[in-house]
Amino acid sequence: MRRSLDLPDALRLLVGGPVALVTTRWRDQTNVMPAIWVAPLSRTPPLLGVAVNPSRHTHDMIRFSEEFALNIPGAELINHTQYFGVVSGRDVSKLDLSKLPTFKATKVQAPLIEGCLAYIECGLEDALRVGDHTLFVGRVVAVQAEREAFEETWLLADEDLKPLHYLGIDRYAVLGTAMQAELRTTEEGAVELGETAEKREQREEEEGRRREEEEREGG
Ligand SMILES: Cc1cc2nc3c(=O)[nH]c(=O)nc-3n(C[C@H](O)[C@H](O)[C@H](O)COP(=O)(O)O)c2cc1C
Repeated sequence: MRRSLDLPDALRLLVGGPVALVTTRWRDQTNVMPAIWVAPLSRTPPLLGVAVNPSRHTHDMIRFSEEFALNIPGAELINHTQYFGVVSGRDVSKLDLSKLPTFKATKVQAPLIEGCLAYIECGLEDALRVGDHTLFVGRVVAVQAEREAFEETWLLADEDLKPLHYLGIDRYAVLGTAMQAELRTTEEGAVELGETAEKREQREEEEGRRREEEEREGG
């Protein structure tokens, strides 16, 4: 049974991408805040957007420093992530209090948080006011990721190496199993939908049985 939702629920229906811990440095101050409103915007040049509410300390830190870094945590940092999202760097030095070790980024001054799965360093390309948020457009200047976590795509092979996703409030999730689409076309160009995992398993079992029979007959 479908039901109508409040309009802002549309935003929560769309969340689910990895949480990014946005780190910044301005003069001798550092800060970190989790952001979920992060979107790829352009491939060439590589641009991404982070929507930050002007009330966030991070907002001023990005405006002044004109750069930032995205640190993508795994589930291990779930409690740190929530803490960084309920306390403001205007009141306390969150990174210092968290005692999480940091290391130097390659191209920006913002610190990177040790133990995350991937890091994206950005220079500020543009800042657009969109409704009640500022869309900071970042130009990607360096990217690194744990080898066992990401190879062309997130691998999802190891629970500890899956990126943390945010559902809203204080709820988080990690993705389940990676699946591969199999799209085939007929000679006429019509789309043949790929097999379901169950069907593929049946077919592979069947093919294996046939091979064994053939080998027995041949031998
Ligand atoms: C998981 C999570 C994701 C969040 N995503 C965003 C976001 O995309 N944009 C935003 O403005 N605030 C977001 N917030 C809220 C800020 O992280 C929060 O207000 C934080 O305390 C701001 O810190 P700051 O004042 O030190 O910058 C998020 C909070 C959580 C817990």
